[in-house]
Amino acid sequence: MKFFIDTADLNEIAEAKSWGCLAGVTTNPSLYARTGGKLADFEPHMLKIAELCCGLPVSAESTATTAEGMIEEGRRLAALAPNIVVKLPVCEAGLAACRALADEGVRINMTLVFSAPQALLAANAGARYISPFVGRFDDIAEDGISQLADVVACIGNYDWTGKNVDDQVEIITASVRTPNHVTQAALLGADIATVPFGALKKCLKHPLTDAGLASFEADWKKVVEQA
Ligand code: G3P
Repeated sequence: MKFFIDTADLNEIAEAKSWGCLAGVTTNPSLYARTGGKLADFEPHMLKIAELCCGLPVSAESTATTAEGMIEEGRRLAALAPNIVVKLPVCEAGLAACRALADEGVRINMTLVFSAPQALLAANAGARYISPFVGRFDDIAEDGISQLADVVACIGNYDWTGKNVDDQVEIITASVRTPNHVTQAALLGADIATVPFGALKKCLKHPLTDAGLASFEADWKKVVEQA
């Protein structure tokens, strides 16, 4: 399973990228708003992320509300850089825009997916990536991981050749909050987990790793002092 980072913060992306294990970035309007960015800076900011990511896929979300608006904005976003993936919501307008843009060779990440039927509709509309949300189910005391399991199984049952620009559909586990979400997503065979920077750091941390490092350092200091 690949790791994407779920953020629009350039410093977080740069730091996560420096670890050497980052495979992409996803953003959304809320994440952009959190950077304090202005409306006029949205597209230049997406371009900066795309350039920072040197070819890795970067999802930039359309905020249009009609199919025509999403197609127009999607074309503009996709033209910013070859690694921009246009993110669209799974709704009537989103599906129509997905089909039109996919037919033009634009990669689409279909977002706000909360069920297997939504995921199947998105894949049939030409989505290259499908983003089922996990954490928001947990927020309402439902089981996000079992919903993800349905999506992974249903999409995995079929061959998507000819449906979209790359002849394949990848599942991006989204709305990830914890390292356990990451483990469960990988156990299910999800292709990607998009993880906020804070949760990504938690994935790396383990108290036994910290304790092991401290004891190795202390023992090595003794060796050096005796030399
Ligand atoms: O980018 C979409 C998704 O990952 C948002 O997550 O935490 O706002 O539910 P969250």
